[in-house]
Amino acid sequence: MTGVLVLNGPNLGRLGSREPDVYGAMDHAALTTTILGWADELGLEAQVRQSDDETELVHWLHEAVDARLDVVLNPAAFTHYSYALRDAAAQVTTSGLRLVEVHLTNPATRERFRHTSVIGGVATGTIAGFGFDSYRLALNALRP
Ligand code: DQA
Repeated sequence: MTGVLVLNGPNLGRLGSREPDVYGAMDHAALTTTILGWADELGLEAQVRQSDDETELVHWLHEAVDARLDVVLNPAAFTHYSYALRDAAAQVTTSGLRLVEVHLTNPATRERFRHTSVIGGVATGTIAGFGFDSYRLALNALRP
């Protein structure tokens, strides 16, 4: 089976209680279960991880390169300013792997600071605004 790392950045572990009007009522455990079900249907072996820690996310991207795994990345707030995450994401795509940037919401319709993604320029593609379905669309793009 083709492996995929699904990485979620800061505050996504608070889904369900965090601004439910913006991010929905389902928690990160429900997101994980949903993603694993979709991955299975698509013939992908997914691992879902969440961290509030930039260093840990950078190291997981290094791991994806070394293990030759495509990546679905929701960088959360790091989207807008983390050059460390951008440089790590660039290592994924320049090594011939694919990295899909995903967002639950559509940052382009929100506050101005969210309109910039420092990740988008090194991602294979970006999917935003479809809630949990953003991840299904990303996995679909990575199906074998
Ligand atoms: C987000 C959008 C970001 O602007 C925000 O900081 C998040 C979540 C999304 O999935 O919509 O934490 O990445």
